[in-house]
Amino acid sequence: MRQTSTVRPGPESAQRIEEPGAPIAFRNVSHNFIHGKRAVLVLEEFDLEIGASEFVSIVGPSGCGKTTALSMAGGLERPRHGRVLLDGRPCDGTSDDVAFMFARDALLPWRRVRRNVELGMEVRRVPAAERRRRADEWLRRVRLEEFADSDVLHLSQGMRQRVAIARTLVQSPRVVLMDEPFAALDAQTRANQQQEFARLWEAERPTVVFVTHDLEEAILLSDRVVLMAARPGRIVADLRIDLPRPRTQEMRTQSPDFAGYLETLSGRLREEVAAAEERRQAEGERA
Ligand SMILES: Nc1ncnc2c1ncn2[C@@H]1O[C@H](COP(=O)(O)OP(=O)(O)OP(=O)(O)O)[C@@H](O)[C@H]1O
Ligand SMILES: [Mg+2]
Repeated sequence: MRQTSTVRPGPESAQRIEEPGAPIAFRNVSHNFIHGKRAVLVLEEFDLEIGASEFVSIVGPSGCGKTTALSMAGGLERPRHGRVLLDGRPCDGTSDDVAFMFARDALLPWRRVRRNVELGMEVRRVPAAERRRRADEWLRRVRLEEFADSDVLHLSQGMRQRVAIARTLVQSPRVVLMDEPFAALDAQTRANQQQEFARLWEAERPTVVFVTHDLEEAILLSDRVVLMAARPGRIVADLRIDLPRPRTQEMRTQSPDFAGYLETLSGRLREEVAAAEERRQAEGERA
């Protein structure tokens, strides 16, 4: 087993700009969390560059550090060592250019649909008329214009998720960070949301970092799928997905390339899960 170690903060917090190019760059990132008296190494030598308008998925065993990495890109967590850069600047706080979307849609039940879509714009003090115009435009794009004045509690799960998509994209973020955004949906709704999101993404092309446990979802949506290993979390495979766009659900069953990508990724993931299990057992025996 690798030794867990405490990693001290480096000089990376300085506000200098370096090598702008990739909108998001992780450079030699290591990170630990303190559990009781122990420092547990979560990420080690984590290096990843994501280009403008790229759609990159991160997959890997539970607990390998996917959410931690995403939080760093969003400026919610600072790496103890190494750098996480947004346009060449350290991500040390939230940015107007970056939007988040999570598994739970986090809609506010006391606000009507349109007011939920307007929320982020309100925080940024966009004037009311402009907010309304943009919210209505996005409700049209997610085909919910008739529900602008509805109570969110009356919507189906899929409709709620479309409101959440509208609320995320209405601010024209350059970067969208998504943590298992469709995990709470049933299979059919999930497939619909994947298509819906892919369609909207293709029109706007923000840079997307998408965390998922679903390999097929990752392949279907992404330009690249990055596979992480656990303890400490690091990248062990980076696969370019060369399927034509627009992607369709039929590709899952009809594209030999899709099948090839799935076989490669699921094989590697199985190896990583087995290796993690072996390490856990070895640690248990030693304890
Ligand atoms: N705030 C925190 N304090 C202490 N430990 C944490 C904290 N956040 C995460 N961890 C630990 O760091 C490791 C990585 O967590 P993280 O949530 O990034 O994994 P993940 O890959 O997103 O997992 P999952 O697939 O289950 O969502 C886990 O062992 C977790 O227990
Ligand atoms: Mg997670």
